[in-house]
Amino acid sequence: MTGQDQSPTAQLSEALSTAAAAVEETMVALLTPSDSAAPRLWQAMRYAALSGGKRLRPFFVLQSARLCGVSGEPALRTAAAVELVHAYSLVHDDLPAMDDDNMRRGQPTVHRQFDEATAILAGDALQTLAFEVLSGPETHPSAEVRSQLVAALAQASGAAGMAGGQMLDLGAADTDWDETSIQQLQSMKTAALFACACELGAILGEAPPDQRIALRTFGLNFGLAFQITDDLMDVTGDASEAGKAVGKDAAQGKATLVELEGLESARAIAARFCHNAMESLDLYGDRADLLREIAGSVTSRRS
Ligand code: IPE
Ligand code: IPE
Ligand code: MG
Ligand code: MG
Ligand code: MG
Repeated sequence: MTGQDQSPTAQLSEALSTAAAAVEETMVALLTPSDSAAPRLWQAMRYAALSGGKRLRPFFVLQSARLCGVSGEPALRTAAAVELVHAYSLVHDDLPAMDDDNMRRGQPTVHRQFDEATAILAGDALQTLAFEVLSGPETHPSAEVRSQLVAALAQASGAAGMAGGQMLDLGAADTDWDETSIQQLQSMKTAALFACACELGAILGEAPPDQRIALRTFGLNFGLAFQITDDLMDVTGDASEAGKAVGKDAAQGKATLVELEGLESARAIAARFCHNAMESLDLYGDRADLLREIAGSVTSRRS
């Protein structure tokens, strides 16, 4: 069966695999330098970035680009750039100074497989490679568009986005949290990059502001639901399915809605964000059905 004959779930699963394979190919090329004076660093970067993962953020870039009339190399390079930043964030998140994790994507974390200093440098170099990729003319012929791509990814990853959220996450044990402040932390550490992934497609397609806002809103709400389900998995999930340790957040004093309000309430809040995510896509009609489908499936994920 192909295309329209398939169930929405099967269509989504096929679209996710196709996107993951295409992005993988782009990332392999970007992570294979013709000549390198630091082969161990590239090896660690490849280990971190080409080790599986769901490839959700690149999927969102490709889908938002498609909705805004863009495909091919520009979309793939942009998708790869976001995944490179995500891979870097995981390498650093797992370090002993942060979450101190030994397993990621079903294999030893980068600092376990290599060493801590190499993991720090691999994270640094994955991040800078992402911006190098976005700034290259193969990503978009217009320097103005390229600079908007760079600015959007920098904002989402930096002190006002992922890095800032990670800072709040580290100080969580010493802070009084309520639902609003946890949502603020999670919108920075996780949802900002999802929102950016969705917005980048609109930037590439030079789409009008209403589309850019709609896609951003989708990504932000999806990202909030996604982090809550990650926190739920930490309590109810299985390490071999998740490919990483579970049962650690409470002991590390992480601020989560699961901890604050309990499992049922956290599930209900995640479902509300999914609903908001789907609603934000109204202007795309059935062209955005794959995005609606993925938002609808996030609360039942096991990895
Ligand atoms: C893990 O992200 C980090 C969070 C934001 C919760 P993913 O669950 O997308 O990780 P991979 O890329 O599939 O390994
Ligand atoms: C997301 O939070 C981390 C990043 C933004 C990189 P977690 O620390 O909960 O992610 P996992 O559970 O280690 O994947
Ligand atoms: Mg963390
Ligand atoms: Mg972690
Ligand atoms: Mg987690």
